[in-house]
Amino acid sequence: MYSAGQNILMYHLACVNCGATFPADEIIYNCKKCGHLLAVRYPLDTITVKKQTWSRRPLSVWRYKELLPVTIPPVTLREGGTPLYHLERLGKEMGLPHLYAKHEGMNPSGSFKDRGMTVGVSMALQLKKKSVACASTGNTSASLAVYAAKAGIPAVVLLPAGKVAVGKIAQALMHGAKVISIRGNFDQALEMVHELCLSHGLYLLNSINPYRLEGQKTIGFEAFDQLGEVPDRFVLPVGNAGNISAVHKGFMELEELGFIDRLPMMTGIQAQGSSPVVRAIRENLPEVISEKNPETIATAIRIGAPVNAEKALTAIRATGGLAETVTDDEILQMQRDLARKEGIGVEPASAASVAGVRKLALMGALDHNERIVCVVTGHLLKDPDTVIKQCEPPTEINADLPSLLSALHL
Ligand code: F0G
Repeated sequence: MYSAGQNILMYHLACVNCGATFPADEIIYNCKKCGHLLAVRYPLDTITVKKQTWSRRPLSVWRYKELLPVTIPPVTLREGGTPLYHLERLGKEMGLPHLYAKHEGMNPSGSFKDRGMTVGVSMALQLKKKSVACASTGNTSASLAVYAAKAGIPAVVLLPAGKVAVGKIAQALMHGAKVISIRGNFDQALEMVHELCLSHGLYLLNSINPYRLEGQKTIGFEAFDQLGEVPDRFVLPVGNAGNISAVHKGFMELEELGFIDRLPMMTGIQAQGSSPVVRAIRENLPEVISEKNPETIATAIRIGAPVNAEKALTAIRATGGLAETVTDDEILQMQRDLARKEGIGVEPASAASVAGVRKLALMGALDHNERIVCVVTGHLLKDPDTVIKQCEPPTEINADLPSLLSALHL
């Protein structure tokens, strides 16, 4: 039986800019006073959960239910509890003996989005919403389709036509979402679905929804539990900038609870053709300048106007983190290296985090003793086309032993 955390509706929504607060059950996606982003705030001084209580529960999103907003039995498919792998070979090559990858491709739908959706779709039910929607570069739509199916409610997903990897579209379709391809990019799709949700009452489950990010912060909690200490650096691929913001928020909560005494340096990696956050950090801009035509092979992070940029810039700056770009070639090289040297199969966007670490190490920007956790965000099979294009085709032979021996040069 699920029993809710002790935070039953003790939390509220707060604006990250002006601090205005709103009731937890008000369905809003931006501050009603100034229009900036919202975050969920718990009365952390009244939360008395012990670390040992968490350790006794299975490693999963719901291990940390005292720091989650859901008070009903959640819509869950056992998300989280993903492996943290020590990248021994790649770490050695880079001179980084403490390099790790948290393989979020091992979630039910094959990406970290499931952490957000188990919480987000549970909140949709808790808030008595009848349908859900999102815009997506692919993974969010796959995950929403899966969790809406589990919840038994309809889902609408908007995708940029021709720019979504085939595995992700297959999932959204098979799990029964209404899939709409728009002749435009992700940023336009997000604007459209936001308006649709405001005008027609669907529940918006993009990362502008502060409840969804609550689920995603558990990536950091799990990595802390698996390592037994706070990593020095947490490295994430950045698209809409929700995940890096979520992990940072989670670590701040652990600090406030007294479980940790320092925060990891939050480090964001973007594809060179789609890098407004990196630019804002480099040029010390107060906010990101949107890119009209973002382009990269890593379609998951092909985003020019990241909605969570405000939170992400704070996360990187406040923790002394870094932001760096990687080229498509560097991304694909790392996708192959992870696959062939570590046995870890990830999609291109996910390889960006580790590719970014390799670049930063070469630039001399990292201390060799750092404990570094890279989030690899989605599974290899999400984007089989990009995999096949990089590999030699299978060798086809006649069905006899001499042909086999000859093909193997034996
Ligand atoms: N990696 C993968 C595999 C993703 O699918 C995404 C985002 C990111 C990284 C970036 O995370 O947006 O929180 O900075 N995918 C979204 C989607 C945009 O629609 O599936 P972020």
